[in-house]
Amino acid sequence: MKKAKLTEITTLYRFGIPFETDATVFKKNDLTFKKCEKIDYFSITEKENKIILTLKLFKDDKVYGLGETLGSLNKRGKVYKLYATDDPIHTPEKDALYGSHPFVIISNKFGFFIDYPGEMIFDISYTKLDKMIITINSNNFDIYIFDTKKDVEVIREYLKLTGKPYIPPKWAFGYQQCRWSYPDAETIKEVANNFRKRNIPCDAIYMDIDYMENYKVFTIDENKFPNFPEFVSEMKSMGFNLVPIVDPGVKIEKGYDVYEEGIKNEYFCKDENDKNFVATVWPGYTHFPDFLNPEVRKWWGEKYKLFTDLGITGFWNDMNEPSIFFVPKTLKEYLKKVDKLKEKEVGLEFFMIKDEAVSLSNRREYYKSFYHNTPQGKYSNDEIHNLYGYYMTKATVEGFEKIIPNKRYLLLSRSSYAGHHRIATIWMGDNMSWWEHMLVNIRMLQSLNLSGFFYTGADIGGFGSNTSPELVIRWMQLGVFSPLYRNHSALGTRHQEPWAFDEYTEEILRNTIKLRYALIPYLYSEFFNSVDSLIPFISPLFLYFNDEISKNIEDQFMVGNSIMATPVIQPNAKGRYVHLPEHKWLYWKVSNYKYRNVKVYEPGDYYIDADLNEIPMFIKENSLIVLNEEEINYINEKSIKELTVIGFVTDSGEFTYFDDDGETYNFKNGKYVKINISVKKIENGYNYEIEKDESEDFVSTIEIIKFEIYDEKGEKYTEVLEI
Ligand code: GLC
Repeated sequence: MKKAKLTEITTLYRFGIPFETDATVFKKNDLTFKKCEKIDYFSITEKENKIILTLKLFKDDKVYGLGETLGSLNKRGKVYKLYATDDPIHTPEKDALYGSHPFVIISNKFGFFIDYPGEMIFDISYTKLDKMIITINSNNFDIYIFDTKKDVEVIREYLKLTGKPYIPPKWAFGYQQCRWSYPDAETIKEVANNFRKRNIPCDAIYMDIDYMENYKVFTIDENKFPNFPEFVSEMKSMGFNLVPIVDPGVKIEKGYDVYEEGIKNEYFCKDENDKNFVATVWPGYTHFPDFLNPEVRKWWGEKYKLFTDLGITGFWNDMNEPSIFFVPKTLKEYLKKVDKLKEKEVGLEFFMIKDEAVSLSNRREYYKSFYHNTPQGKYSNDEIHNLYGYYMTKATVEGFEKIIPNKRYLLLSRSSYAGHHRIATIWMGDNMSWWEHMLVNIRMLQSLNLSGFFYTGADIGGFGSNTSPELVIRWMQLGVFSPLYRNHSALGTRHQEPWAFDEYTEEILRNTIKLRYALIPYLYSEFFNSVDSLIPFISPLFLYFNDEISKNIEDQFMVGNSIMATPVIQPNAKGRYVHLPEHKWLYWKVSNYKYRNVKVYEPGDYYIDADLNEIPMFIKENSLIVLNEEEINYINEKSIKELTVIGFVTDSGEFTYFDDDGETYNFKNGKYVKINISVKKIENGYNYEIEKDESEDFVSTIEIIKFEIYDEKGEKYTEVLEI
């Protein structure tokens, strides 16, 4: 083992010769290593080529991180397996999901990141209350220790190491509608017309697997989508972005160009006999492109031209754990067993074949039986399993750099590895229309943000199983504060579009989505501010407040620096308990953003009322938010002329408004506007200041700023300034 000091805070410990994963942006060649025997904080044991790291946990230690995992925000009390898995039933006992983000914060002590792409097990106060036991399935890996007691600094160091969070286009902050599937162009048009006709804002409609011809990747079914280019431009003219799904499995079919090219150029993963590995996914028998090979990535990335040439800049890369329904051999064996039972009277055997059918999917043995040809040598998928989704996404992004240079894109992937957050993002996979999954959504939103996924979200309303109007309402209200605001539901389940229920539900959902659009200037500015400062956009309370209670609050979170979201996540509730730390807070109970139903609260613990049509949110003392009060159907419909600043100011408050073209990286070359807004309490009122920083190439459209400031008693003061 050897170590290299990277910064004042960060030390890298290297075990053996690790696989270079691409997780970090660090130039590893320049490192100077020294031999070492132990690593700070951990004890090390080796067993059958596995390394076990053990950390003593004290009674009050809090453990945060691990990105996309189930369990509580404080990760103590559960076992987590980092091995990308397509498991659509996210029940509490499940240990593995789709992503692998081995970054952990031991609050107020230190943090660490283990860069290893195979299986890792984190047993955190599960086997033993006072231990974290990490089993790494290899003796070749890197571990970085971030030695600072400040949690915010730990996160910053991790993000300096793995890269700044990715920034999607501005339209991606709007509302997005999805369904597996809107099967044809006519249905999508109808959905689009419904949004506009019913006066419900929306920016994107997704195209799930049914747009393809027999689920063949990079094809479009011409019967269902005749004249696709015309359809895309019709949608664009109505203000809708289409977001097609892309799956990695390439259907084995003679004459199908993607298949033929892959075969000819040896682009697919190989089995033990050096034949192309065969797995079954949606299209039937498929081959998996070997994304760890740069040549394969080049080929794959340019395929997105089919869509980008038509102006499409939104995509979701799915099934890239990679998900395997079964392989030909295991299905055959299974069917033989079923066959044998045909002549018998079946009792108990029924349960066995029933369970065995499910167990045909995603078996570990499959991942051990296919191989990647990487620039670092040949590896079985199992050894570097957690990288497949990342490298598929890297292929996409490398393609974009060529085919849509300087264009920002929305790119969701289902599987991911540490570092993925700097090139694209993820959604949280197949949740259910269960109340319990709203809490899962909130916890994961926070822990993914800690791992650099500032822009992310869950399937709102729930993907699997049938939803109810009340669940959709409460979830859509939570979604106002979720960076990715996408409603998605599975085949065969109840529809979840805002008009799918009754008129009252539709009216509430209309107002809910309109609040999101009014908040866009705040959300967009704060998103940029958080990427700049490397402080999570969605923050757990413990990053802001030091009191003991805040450290254990999981169902309230900060959105940017000024708003605390306190969503209602229980059925039939008329409100909820909230913890209001440290400051006074201005409670804004929103049913329609045009009305300010506000009240000042002293710090403390309360039950607050929030009826089904009311969204509870709090504005922090001495902070400001900005709204666009003009109604819009979609983000780029009109330029904003007037901003409303709402503030709760007992002394002084500041806000930096940010805007740019919303679709390129020109902001990196100074093409943006920043307006620094500050409000100071003076005798009998307030002093307002505005300072504009804009470049010649990007001029602000804002002409008027309206101030609406509340003092410690909740008295309102107004002012209008021209700029
Ligand atoms: C997977 C995805 C889901 C998608 C479905 C059909 O289950 O996670 O979002 O709708 O496949 O493509």
